Amino acid sequence: MEALETILERNQQTILLDHLKTLSGEKLENFKKQLQAVDWDYITTLTKEYVLQKPVTAIPDDLSPAPFFPLVPRTDEQKELYAKAKETGKALISAGKVAALTVAGGQGTRLGYNAPKGTFPITPVRKKTLFQYFAESLARVSEKYGFQIPWLIMTSELNDADTRAFFKKNDFFGLSEESVHFFTQGTMPAIRYDGKCFPAEPGSLALAPDGHGGTLLALRKSGLLDAMKKAGVEYISYFQVDNPLVPVVNPFFIGLHALEKSEMSSIMLAKTNAFEKLGNFCITNGKLQIIEYSDMPKELAERTNPDGTLSFLAGSPAIHVITLDFVERLTATGRLELPWHRADKKVAYLENGEIITPEEPNAVKLEAFIFDALPLANRTMILEADRKECFAPTKNKTGVDSVESCREMLAARDARRLRLAGIQVPEGAVVELSPRDVFDDEDAANFFRNLVPTAYGR
Ligand code: UTP
Repeated sequence: MEALETILERNQQTILLDHLKTLSGEKLENFKKQLQAVDWDYITTLTKEYVLQKPVTAIPDDLSPAPFFPLVPRTDEQKELYAKAKETGKALISAGKVAALTVAGGQGTRLGYNAPKGTFPITPVRKKTLFQYFAESLARVSEKYGFQIPWLIMTSELNDADTRAFFKKNDFFGLSEESVHFFTQGTMPAIRYDGKCFPAEPGSLALAPDGHGGTLLALRKSGLLDAMKKAGVEYISYFQVDNPLVPVVNPFFIGLHALEKSEMSSIMLAKTNAFEKLGNFCITNGKLQIIEYSDMPKELAERTNPDGTLSFLAGSPAIHVITLDFVERLTATGRLELPWHRADKKVAYLENGEIITPEEPNAVKLEAFIFDALPLANRTMILEADRKECFAPTKNKTGVDSVESCREMLAARDARRLRLAGIQVPEGAVVELSPRDVFDDEDAANFFRNLVPTAYGR
């Protein structure tokens, strides 16, 4: 206790010291444990850098657009490479060298849904949850390639128990329990604008998940990095829990990643306009780096090529393939070697024994972003993809990137697949295919052909 008090005093965490003195018994023990888990000297350093002043993101002056492999191959050589990549990817999946990883540790504040985001009913007709949708996709693609793909799901301390309980209650949606691996990301204390940390409720420090960049260290700390390597996994197919349109594994993307000997690869989408809220793939000092839309200088965002297209066309939908050896190298020191980002948030706090939920942001959360690993990779690769086939994020209730827009995109994709199978679907019809049966276009054609061989003339 004395040692803890000394550390808190040294770091001027007076609110926590005062609160500590009001506690006893189990609450005191738990609070002590929470406080001891934090590196307070490090928090003080970060507070000076990110909280007491608003950090100015230095934008390098040598930014140039990052090169990428185009959606449609442009040369014969590229055509050959793409064909080879597809076969390579399929072979890697069949050989058990690929795991799927979903980051699901976020708090989903914009959606305003009071449960883990993965438990949100998203599909347009059956209202399947995000987790069920991914689970069924994984079951189908595993069946297709003859290997049960391990599914790694990153939770945070705030939603881990609820997430696990949800899977148990639903019998893992038909997946074998052993193929689903939960792991929990780290947390960081929320920091008030005056630099103080605080309890969110009696005996409980206000904590927030450390960002999706936390995936890397959490993989190591949880033992999953070792376990996956032992099981022969070499590549991770990384995607976000709020994007049900993403293929849970993409053989072509994985194959190209492997053939290019990339350590971390990213899917890119052509931005719809200069200021679309996607990170921009840029090259600086010979390295690939994502510059957030909010940090991108206006004149660069708007710059065009002679043919009128955007110079900085490539936006990031947060879909990556990551080589496991790269994760191992990056986390070897046992610390997260990524920069921090400041987010101003409304964080509940304790005042005179009462829990107050503020109307305005009152504290800073520090988060690491997975894409900051890109400049640390020896080799990277970017592949263009079709937005309609891979990106329908569910961030908000309505409007842009919302539940509504996501459902529309899912229905439109499935209508396209039905048409591919020779079935007429009126424009705007709300349809839904089960990913347990249909993982990709090829599945769609086969499924309907097999189901009712003569019913669907072309
Ligand atoms: P977002 O940046 O959209 O954050 O996360 P969020 O917490 O889900 O939503 P808001 O901003 O509070 O509305 C993108 C993806 O990264 C995961 C999320 O679960 C989502 O899949 N994520 C985010 C984590 O796993 N951990 C984090 O600490 C942050």
